[in-house]
Parts: sequence; structure tokens; C-alpha cells
Amino acid sequence: MKRLALEGSGEVVAATRKFARIVLCMATMAATGCGHHLVGRWVATGRTLDNGEQEKYILELKQSGNQLTGTMKTWGGSVDLKGTASGNHFVLFGPRSNTRPFITGDLAGGELRGTIGHRAWVATPASPSDDLPTVAYIEPPALHNVSYNGLAKTPPMGWNSWNLFAGKVDDQTVRTIADAMVSSGMRDAGYIYVNIDDTWQGVRDAQGNLQPNHKFPDMKALADYVHSKGLKLGIYSGPGTRTCADYPASYGHEEQDAKTYAAWGIDYLKYDWCSAAMIYKDDQLQAVYQKMGDALQATGRPIVYSLCEYGRGQVEKWGAEVGGNLWRTTDDIRDQWSSMIGNIEEQAPTAPYAGPGHWNDPDMLEIGNGHMSDDEYRTHMSLWALTAAPLLAGNDVRNMTPATKAILMNKEVIAIDQDPLGKQAEPEKNGDLETWVKPLAGGSVAVGVVNLGSAAAQAAVNLKDLHLKGAVRRARDLWTHQDVKFAGGSYSATVPSHGVLLLKVSAD
Ligand code: GLA
Repeated sequence: MKRLALEGSGEVVAATRKFARIVLCMATMAATGCGHHLVGRWVATGRTLDNGEQEKYILELKQSGNQLTGTMKTWGGSVDLKGTASGNHFVLFGPRSNTRPFITGDLAGGELRGTIGHRAWVATPASPSDDLPTVAYIEPPALHNVSYNGLAKTPPMGWNSWNLFAGKVDDQTVRTIADAMVSSGMRDAGYIYVNIDDTWQGVRDAQGNLQPNHKFPDMKALADYVHSKGLKLGIYSGPGTRTCADYPASYGHEEQDAKTYAAWGIDYLKYDWCSAAMIYKDDQLQAVYQKMGDALQATGRPIVYSLCEYGRGQVEKWGAEVGGNLWRTTDDIRDQWSSMIGNIEEQAPTAPYAGPGHWNDPDMLEIGNGHMSDDEYRTHMSLWALTAAPLLAGNDVRNMTPATKAILMNKEVIAIDQDPLGKQAEPEKNGDLETWVKPLAGGSVAVGVVNLGSAAAQAAVNLKDLHLKGAVRRARDLWTHQDVKFAGGSYSATVPSHGVLLLKVSAD
């Protein structure tokens, strides 16, 4: 995600550092927030992470009249803030919203007290010993081609913990999800990877080996369990010092971490840029991602390599060269129509770069998470299939409604996604109707017409737009599971608001 790590990164608890504050105020009597000024450097303690580390936030504020500007930093991120002060009261906004404050509060007794998001927050004047650790720059390697690992000949399918569980994922959850992947039929429908996202990390031991935190007592045993179910296990890290949730990432430990994953039996790595943005520029993305591509290859274990850099640096042009099997093309998806449609439309220009072994990734599925209608989820599934996107379910597969099951496990739609030709459809808009045509192996074509409007509409598919090599042999509606007939070179059907007509048309 493009957000900085500390945005939305969780609780910021009150700090009681009064003694230090009083001593500092007496020592400096300067503009450090000793009762009279918002201006200066402030420190606040953040969450206690699942690995026992306690986050620290440094807020630096400047004031001109009633205008405030500043930055807030933590280990893995920095965010620019601006706002206003009125007397002792202040309001600060982040770069993402001018209406929803990032922090509000008051200067009282030499402390800043307020709320960050919905959470209570206390900052005290910072001393030099509060500085965040400096990071020694490591030059990325010279570019070369990492050879293809032979994996992901069709878009990867599986499940990922982030969309629903975020920081609440643990060993038991992953085991029960793995069980449900089998009992629900998801595995047999092709969903093979069970991917642990952020917040599994512990701390590094004396040799620099990263341990899992208490939520994952034995990663190797978990991998064995997942493998025993006929599934594969994925994990998450990033090229910076910290992940997006501020946990230790792989900076300077790339080979060591790759070896650890291989020793645990990991089959898939999602590698998330996040705090690497504090060290490297976008024109270094390729070299930085290549480093982990090399490290994974050196392990000798087949590990799917998923680049997560939100479409930065025209990743589609070099993702395959660093050994990437898929790469994110957009910001994080949310369980919301506008986010889902926005992501799939935003990645449309990347279509020529998708193909067997290397895929554009408009982010994971939200199907079944409850904030879109079933029509909208059918559109979500159809568009991901038409664009040969990875199908990584992000819902609670232990507890699915019949509609969610029917959407995620629609075998005819999955077959469109998994078509061996690996073509990514591109959209063509006509008013509220958007048509996506995907050529399939063997000369068939999949076509989807999405109704973006707020009322039901009549959607027509015209044969001439499908560029078939012969006469129509069979046309099938992949959601009603019925054959349909083209008449006079076209087929039309009523499509509900935000719904989709999805056909597979085969030619003689
Ligand atoms: C970023 C990624 C998400 C998820 C979170 C975890 O936002 O884009 O998919 O991995 O980090 O912190």
C-alpha cells in the first residue's frame, strides 16, 4: 500500500514520561513544548507489537501564525502533516485527507494530549536519545536477469490473511483456514496457497535469524501441517527495515531470510516495498527486488515471488526480470465497489505484460467480506478472471454463505482466469457499460459486460467485437450456467446495476 507504515498502524497508547519532560524543560527552557509551544520535537510511544517491541513516534512541528506543519516518523515510515493551531488546541491532517484529522489534541502541562484516529495519544518533548535508529545505506546490486523459476504458469490461486484478519492472524487461524480450504472444496477448485501476510515476525536472534513471534510458535510444523492438506504455505516480508505494519523486514538480511523460508518449507513470498521507500528511490526498485529474486533462487526451493510495490516504478516492465511471478499494479483494495472497480481499471494499461509465469496483480479478493452485494462480488470475480489476475481469497473460508461459495468456486469462471494462453482483457467503455474481451487458448473468447450504472441495463455482446476465427459453436453464460444463442450477430441480456454478463464463446 502507498500509505506510510504509521498511518492506520494501530494503537498509540498514552506515555507517562513526566519526569523526563520536567527535567528537559528545566534544562533547556527552549521551544520544545515546555508548556507554551507546539513547535518542537515530540515523542510518543505506540503499540506493543506482537514481537514485544514497542513502537516509537517522533513528531516534529513548525508553526507560522496559526498554521502548523510537520512530520511524524516511526521505524518504518514517515508522514507529512499540516493543520492549524488555535491557542493550545491543534488539528493535523495527513496527506490523504483534508477533512479527517490525523491527530487532534491540546497542549496541556507541557504534553500533547489528544487522539490519533480514535485512539488516545500523549506526546512529550523528545530528547536526542529518543531519535529513531539511523539506517546504513546498502547499495543495491547491478542489474541482471534472474531466470524464471518455472512457477505460476497460470495465475496463482489461494488465500491470504490480510484482508480479513490483518494483525489478528496466528497459527491456529492458519490451520483452521487450511482445514476449511479442503472441506469447503476451495483446494479442489484450485486455491492452493495459504498465505500468511504481515505481523508474523518476531525479532532476530544473535545470528540475525528472524524468528516468528508468539502467534506462530513453530513455522516449520505449520508448513508441514499445511502441506499435509495438499496445500502450500506463503509468507510476507519486504526489502525495507520494517514491514507496512512496522515489523522487522529483510533489509540487509535477504539471503538469510530466504534460507529461513526455505528451511521452514515456505512456497510463496509476498515482498512489500513500504519502508524501503525511506531508503531507496523508485528507479532502484528493480535492483532491490532483484536482490530477493536472487536470494530465493539461491535456496533451490521453488518459491513463488510476489512483488508488492503498488504499481510503482512501472513494475510490469521489469517484474519478470527480477524473477517475479506477480506484481501489484495498484494501491490496496478495500471491500468496496469503487475500490474494486478502481483497481481493475487502473491496471488496464499493464495488459500487454501479463503472461504465463508473470502476472499483473490488482490485489486480493474481497469476495465474501460483506461490504459489496453478490452482484458486485460476481463482477469482482469475473473481472479478476478476465484479466488473468491472481485469485487470492481474502475472506473467512471457514464460514461462507452459499452465494460466496458459488462465486469463489464457479469452476467455469476459474477456468477463464486459469486459461493457459494467459491473456489479460482490456476494457472498452460505452456509457455505463464496460466490455472486457479475453482471448482463450484454442480460439475461444471470454467476454464480460459490466454495468457500472445505478440502474439495470440491457447489455449486448456483438460477435464482430470477439474476432472469432469461425462460426459460433457454443456460447455459454458462466453465471447462469446455461448455453445461450446469438441471433443476428449479437446476444443481449439485462444486467443489474453493478452486475455482469459473462460469456464464453467457442468457434468452429
Ligand atoms: C500493504 C500491502 C497489503 C498488506 C499490508 C500489510 O499495505 O499492500 O496488501 O500486505 O501492507 O501490512
